[in-house]
This record gives sequence, structure tokens and C-alpha cells, in this order.
Amino acid sequence: MNDILITNGRVIDPANRRDEIADVAIAKGKIARIGKVSGKARETIDAKGMIVCPGLIDIHVHCREPGHEEEETIATAASAAVAGGFTTILAMPNTHPPMDNETAVLYVLQRAAEANLARVLPAGCITKGREGKELAEMGMMVEAGAVAFTDDGDGVASATVMQRALQYAARLGVPLMQHCQDPELAGGVMNSGAVAVRLGLGGIAPAGEQIMLQRDLELVKRTVARYHVQHVSCAGSVEMIRAAKSAGLPVTAEASPHHLLLTDAACAEYDPNFKVNPPLRSAGDVEALRAGVADGTIDCLATDHAPHAKEEKELEFGLAPFGIISLECALGLYAKAMIDTGLLDWPGLIARMTVNPASVINRPLGRLVVGGPADVTIINPKMRWTVRVDTFRSRSRNCPFDGWELSARPVAAIVGGSIKFRL
Ligand code: DOR
Repeated sequence: MNDILITNGRVIDPANRRDEIADVAIAKGKIARIGKVSGKARETIDAKGMIVCPGLIDIHVHCREPGHEEEETIATAASAAVAGGFTTILAMPNTHPPMDNETAVLYVLQRAAEANLARVLPAGCITKGREGKELAEMGMMVEAGAVAFTDDGDGVASATVMQRALQYAARLGVPLMQHCQDPELAGGVMNSGAVAVRLGLGGIAPAGEQIMLQRDLELVKRTVARYHVQHVSCAGSVEMIRAAKSAGLPVTAEASPHHLLLTDAACAEYDPNFKVNPPLRSAGDVEALRAGVADGTIDCLATDHAPHAKEEKELEFGLAPFGIISLECALGLYAKAMIDTGLLDWPGLIARMTVNPASVINRPLGRLVVGGPADVTIINPKMRWTVRVDTFRSRSRNCPFDGWELSARPVAAIVGGSIKFRL
């Protein structure tokens, strides 16, 4: 007998070009059958009118553990993830202490196993202590289970260090993920431009992102490492990534919900919930990012879920930390930016949240394969709902989308054949 039977849903699996009304049977943690399934199961989910797709994957999540468990833990991040329809998340290493050695990687994996919710995959630091000087023990971290490397929060400023990191990453077969920002051009607190001038706040120009990206692309040409651009924020970067891809470089990129939906005008009330790094940019940048996601220049969508304590986010704009959380409303936000605007259809959006991020981190996830892991998300594509941060499972509340009306929502998340979330 099957453990779970999901009946009559619109099964969308972009990796296998599937888009049809079908049943999905799950047994012993694996996909047992896709098609017309007769017989009984221990649990049957009627998915008429719903989308049934591979479990969603978010490759940019700050879990804050170890070090800032008052903001988030691996368990609360994983719980927020499944409530957002995500069955796999990539944990960023800017923890305290930073995740720059195999023991730290093993710790994250152990905490994730204890939480037993979403799959939590560790991204290790590129450099020891995220200081940008000396390479971290990348090989040992890969052996322990790290699937990517980044100093996220900071870009690697030294070209020599970055070049070495790319060479090691190539040998290890893992991607390097860069927070592209030249540190000398990072002095401000919001996008540079008319709004920053009017508010009397220091600006961060798009040039800082593009200069590091340009340098890295030159280095990527000279190695064979896979290179991933985190949270692309400006039109110039989209153009550079498009050109790099058409020249055949092994470059991938992600965009975050806030950069697809908000501009620097949102900072006009000095609300620190809109303070994020890279900063919210101009309407032209938003348009270019959306176009980049639509044409595949930007491969995938990733939240950069960055929890911060209430008391810190209540500081004045200049002093508050950078960061936005959105794991629990991301799907509806992406749908608003890309589907409601007619730029993508559901198979297109789901590809950018499943098989595409899985291939960035080179994991056999993000697809529905008979005999493969039963990670499945069920989405109501027509559910109108209002984002209420008070109901979030995350430990933090720094979400600028509170009160937004959205029109799509995950209603179930199944990880390895177990139902981890049901609305
Ligand atoms: O806004 C951000 N917050 N951007 C980052 O790159 C880091 C993150 C954090 O860790 O708070």
C-alpha cells in the first residue's frame, strides 16, 4: 500500500517537461508512481485545482545558528521553510563562529537532522573567519557535507584569494557563490540616488556590485569553476551575466523577492525593514531583473532570508542591520512579480524554484522521478491571502511585506515522503 496518494493535481515537473493532471503516489519515502493511480493509501490528499510539483528549493537562507539563536535557529528556519513550501534550503555560513571548518558543517547537519523538517544543506565559508585573507578548509568541508562556498554578507575582496578559491572549487566540483560588492564602495546604507540624497543617507552605488562581478568573470574565464552570483540587484549586472553566459562561462545567478518587487523609494519613511544588502534599487533595475529571470539569465529565485532581532531592526535606519525575511511568503511574492505580470507561467516559475537551484548546487533534487526522493510541494495557485508576520514560524519579524495581499500559497510540503507542513 502507498503511504501518501495525491490525487487529481496539476503535476508540474519542469525537469521532465511534465505538465498534466495526474496522481502522485508515495511509498517508503520515494515517488512510487505518477499517472493514474488506483488503490488505497494511508493518507490521500485531494489536489484538485492545486499544483503538485517537486519540493521547492531556496539556496540562500540565513539560519543564524550557531551564534544568534534569538533571531533564528536551524529548526525555526526549517519550520519557516516548509511553511513556505521549501523542502530544501542552503544555510549561509555567516554564523558566529562562521561555518569555516568541517566541525561547523557537521554541527549544522546534526541540528538539521534533529529538526527533521526541511533538508538543510550547508554552504561553507570561502575564507577563514570570513576575513577574506586565507582560504578555509574547503576540501574537508566538502567531505563533511558542504555543497557550496560563500563569504555571503561580504564579497571576497582580494583577487588572489578569489582566484585560488575558484581553482579549489573547480577541483572539488562545488560552486563558489559571491556576494558581489567591492568593500571600498560599500560605505552607504541604501541605494545611491535621489532618494538617498533627499533622506540624507549614504548611498551604495550599483558600480560596487558590477566591479566585483566584472573582476570575477575575468577570473572565471581563467579557471573552470562554477560561479554563482548571489542576489543580483542591478541592471548592469544582469547585462554582464547575460554576456558571460552567451560566451559560455559556467555562471549562474539568483534574484530575491525584494529586488523583484521593491525600489529604493520604499526607504522614504526610514523603515529599517527595507534596509537590505545589496540595497533596493531603481524601477529600471527591477524591470531588468524581472527580464533576466524571464529569459533565464537569472537561473533561480532565492530569498536571502536574513532574520534580525526586533530591537536591532527598531534602531534608526543608518544603525539597523541589513536584512529581510521572506521564506514564508516567497512563493506568493515571486508569483506577483513574475506570473501576475505575465512574464512567466507556472512551469517557468517552478523551474526557477526547483530544478534550476538544484543544478546550481549540483544535487539530484528538484524533480519528480519514480524511485527518487519524495520531496513534493502542493500549491494553491489561486488562494488569496494576506501576509501576517505575527503568524510566521520564523523567530524574527523583519519582513517588509507584512499586510501584502498575495494570490498563491503552498498548502503542503512533503520531505522524503513525510508531510512536514499542511495548511
Ligand atoms: O541584507 C543582508 N543581510 N544581506 C546580506 O548579504 C547578509 C544578510 C545578513 O546576514 O543579515
